[in-house]
Amino acid sequence: MSEVANTIFSPELAARFDHLVTIYPMRRSALVPMLLYAQDEVGYVSDAVVTEIAQRIGLLELDVRNVLSYYSMLRTKPAGKYNVQVCTNISCMLRGGYEILDHCKAKLGIGHKEVTKDGVFSLEEVECIGACCWAPAMQVNYDFHDNLTTIKVDEIIETYRAGQGKDVK
Ligand code: FES
Repeated sequence: MSEVANTIFSPELAARFDHLVTIYPMRRSALVPMLLYAQDEVGYVSDAVVTEIAQRIGLLELDVRNVLSYYSMLRTKPAGKYNVQVCTNISCMLRGGYEILDHCKAKLGIGHKEVTKDGVFSLEEVECIGACCWAPAMQVNYDFHDNLTTIKVDEIIETYRAGQGKDVK
């Protein structure tokens, strides 16, 4: 049974949150992981997510919003079904990361943090995703794609467009 009655989260996530707030010396240390898990389940950090997480940790909603506005990987609007995250950090930048990002912008017709009209794709420029040895790299939802070329990016995007990609929502 969840700590919070009428939780907006699934029973599994509510139970995870009940546990998370007990494992750190300070409850507020659970804030960032909770926001990330909530984002994965809900699709973005909605007002309702902020309200419940503040309640679960015992923080003001303003405290949650302050953290939310700091981390670029947290979003307050829904992403596309497939969220394309292109790394332009140093290794990727040196191996064509900006070319890949510009190619994605042109191909999808959207910019950083934007969503295609049909809601299928969103695009983000991100910091290092831990695939530096295989730069340039990107993630679509949580799937890694590396050693990218513009041709490879086209193939990846078409695979997702055809509904054959991983969908975390
Ligand atoms: S710099 Fe791009 S994955 Fe590390």
